Amino acid sequence: PLTKELGQLRVGAGSPAVDVPAAKSKKQIDVAAEYAKTQGARDILNLVVVGHVDAGKSTLMGHLLFALGQVKERTLKRFERDAEKIGKGSFAFAWVLDETDEERSRGVTMDVATSSFMTKHRRFTLLDAPGHRDFVPNMISGASRADVAVLVVEASTGGFESGFDGSGQTREHAVLVRALGVRQLVVAVNKLDAVDWSQTRYNEIVQRLGEFLTSCGFPKGDVRFVPVSGLGGVNLAQRAGPETPVLAGWYRDAADSTQPGPCLVDLLDTFAIPERTVSRPLRLAVADYFRGGAASSSNTVSACGRIGQGCVQIGEKVMVVPGG
Ligand code: GTP
Ligand code: MG
Repeated sequence: PLTKELGQLRVGAGSPAVDVPAAKSKKQIDVAAEYAKTQGARDILNLVVVGHVDAGKSTLMGHLLFALGQVKERTLKRFERDAEKIGKGSFAFAWVLDETDEERSRGVTMDVATSSFMTKHRRFTLLDAPGHRDFVPNMISGASRADVAVLVVEASTGGFESGFDGSGQTREHAVLVRALGVRQLVVAVNKLDAVDWSQTRYNEIVQRLGEFLTSCGFPKGDVRFVPVSGLGGVNLAQRAGPETPVLAGWYRDAADSTQPGPCLVDLLDTFAIPERTVSRPLRLAVADYFRGGAASSSNTVSACGRIGQGCVQIGEKVMVVPGG
């Protein structure tokens, strides 16, 4: 019976065994044409930001959005004032992405926040994942939608270790994003301001983490490291300059040593666009399911997951097969 029921599962329709006329009346769209339209001039990438709790993910991305002009000066001033009032002054940039009262009062991201931004050649959908272990399921839902990832690690004394050794989330998140199909990764070595931009500390982290990332299946050339301060906004949208002479002193461009090394945005801008195969048959790996959902009947099973190839729309029949 299960195979029969699954075989008849209809996308966006009601109970699997029942025909839903409403679905049929919806117009079918030309997916290839729509897809080409949404792509616009730049190519879109889904970017998930992961890493151990408190590594500075939300602050880093909040500051990046501000630096790219996505957040108004006035809004940020208000965040600074209000965060200060509840003793969370250092979280003002994180508030750009941590939007709920509970996230703000606890200073912890709980659910994935979505935003978007553009670089010179790319358009990004940003998914800011929570690092706290209680919210790993939310982190997975974010990572399962991602094409590429930024892994944020702390460079501060003991900070990297607490995420990387023992029960820290750095390893777990790296393994998860790779298992969910992400190959291209930028590692933001964050909070380097807290160790006076120490090159020794940076190299130590690059070495230890690099070995680990290779061992969990990230192709060597697809992992790149960048020294940053999310809080200070250093090396995010602009390369290091005279304000951070120590960093600018040792972090140089490999191709042209007269220039400082690439900033975070430079690296994001060169992510390769994964081949998208909209015209191929639908392949969707079911990541989760629940009863109820958008359909009217409470008996309906809703499935969610990531489309690996193809497309699907209302009224279409899909075949469901067990994985293994
Ligand atoms: P979760 O989402 O809860 O896992 O945390 P997160 O990784 O988003 O960290 P968040 O941005 O909330 O920042 C945590 C703390 O680290 C805040 O107090 C930040 O001010 C601080 N922080 C973030 N980036 C930096 C940095 O570059 N330097 C220093 N010194 N502190 C930073
Ligand atoms: Mg956060």
